[in-house]
Amino acid sequence: MVSQQDGSPEASYDPMRQFAELAGDVRDPYPMLAGIRADTPVLHVQLSTGPGGRYQHDDKAPRITSLFTITSHKLAQQVLTDNVRFSSAANAMTIGQVMGRTILEMDPPEHQRHRALVAKAFRARVLDQWSDTIIGATIGELIDAFAGDGQADLIPQLTFPFPVRVIARILGLPEADWPRFLRLSTQLIAVMRNWEGALAASRELRGYFGEIITDRRKHTRDDLVSQLIEAEVDGRRLSDDEIYPFLLLLLPAGVETTYRSSSNLLFGLLSHPGQLDAVRADRGLVPRAIEEALRWENPLLTVTRTATEEVELGGVPIPAGGFLAVSLGAANRDPGRYAEPDAFDIFRSGGQHLSFGDGAHKCLGMHLARLEMRVLLNAVLDRLPGLRLDPDAHDPHIHGLIFRSPPALPVRFDPASEGGR
Ligand code: HEM
Repeated sequence: MVSQQDGSPEASYDPMRQFAELAGDVRDPYPMLAGIRADTPVLHVQLSTGPGGRYQHDDKAPRITSLFTITSHKLAQQVLTDNVRFSSAANAMTIGQVMGRTILEMDPPEHQRHRALVAKAFRARVLDQWSDTIIGATIGELIDAFAGDGQADLIPQLTFPFPVRVIARILGLPEADWPRFLRLSTQLIAVMRNWEGALAASRELRGYFGEIITDRRKHTRDDLVSQLIEAEVDGRRLSDDEIYPFLLLLLPAGVETTYRSSSNLLFGLLSHPGQLDAVRADRGLVPRAIEEALRWENPLLTVTRTATEEVELGGVPIPAGGFLAVSLGAANRDPGRYAEPDAFDIFRSGGQHLSFGDGAHKCLGMHLARLEMRVLLNAVLDRLPGLRLDPDAHDPHIHGLIFRSPPALPVRFDPASEGGR
């Protein structure tokens, strides 16, 4: 990030700490999830939410009192692909409060109309244009800064700053604004921990994007904001009030998930050196490594839905309005679907993981996320020969209950010679 020496809020803001707190301090939730799955595919829990209650971090946040957790791959897929009986509207109560109305909380037919509008910009073919110019250039700059050192912590030095810079560039934001953009993004994402802080960040980001939108309305450029301004739904252009929420959604959707998934990919390979060697020797294995890392340690453990009508799921009755937590993490480790599900194995079969969700809301940015992970892994293998976990590192591990990734990833490698790339 561009450093700030002045008295601006960015000068004292530590986004890494914010993200570490957000992840939750749980080392391994998978035995618990496996225990639930073995017991029942749909767990019904009454939550305690009084002042200081276990599940609320902020008194002003909306309260959820009754929760159905889905842990099997089959039922998770069933819920995600049925957006008539399982609505996404509950996202309006949480993340929607700070972002405004986004496609994440819309149901049919509104959802298709709005998603179609932005989907074009995220097609694999369109994204290829950013592969070298934005994504490759961003990775190159970050690696340049430490390639000569022979050691690094790949989280603060590589995976953390990477996707926020990519999104800032895709949106066409000036480089001088990146530190402010990073602070506001991370404060927005912390919505369930600090409600007021997230609302304040949302207001500030709205003002910030307002200026960018006004500028792009006058001077169209080759960036995503300009594309959104020119897009049409039902023959009419989007208003500023429709563009803001989408821009705000890109921050949590595109920044935090990708930073964590890239970190998990590197951790998976570094902690399984035989598989790292195999990928190094055969780059054709890169896509397999990416899919297995996403399955094994999904950065986002859970998505939510509400039942639109009374429904039975896995033999468990769910009332209309029932709140569902679909555990993507548990589904990805369902032994009914994957042999030895807890093992990281890039050579496994077992089919599509649910890390990007499924059905109508399946991740709009999945091609971008895969592209970012691919460019990052190839660059790391090209530029950091002999890459390995630092033998002196203290207990590298993945943690988190809501979001998951390693808090640190200290590595060693053969330093690049002067000017060598
Ligand atoms: C590895 C990285 C990523 C993961 C694991 C991930 C995961 C997900 C999941 C699980 C959903 C579905 C939510 C639901 O069904 O309620 C989703 C939706 C979405 N994602 Fe991602 N995502 C990633 C990267 C990205 C990126 C890079 C972008 C864009 C820059 C993005 C944009 C979106 C958007 C806009 C939606 C809403 C789609 C809709 O509601 O129709 N995601 N993502």
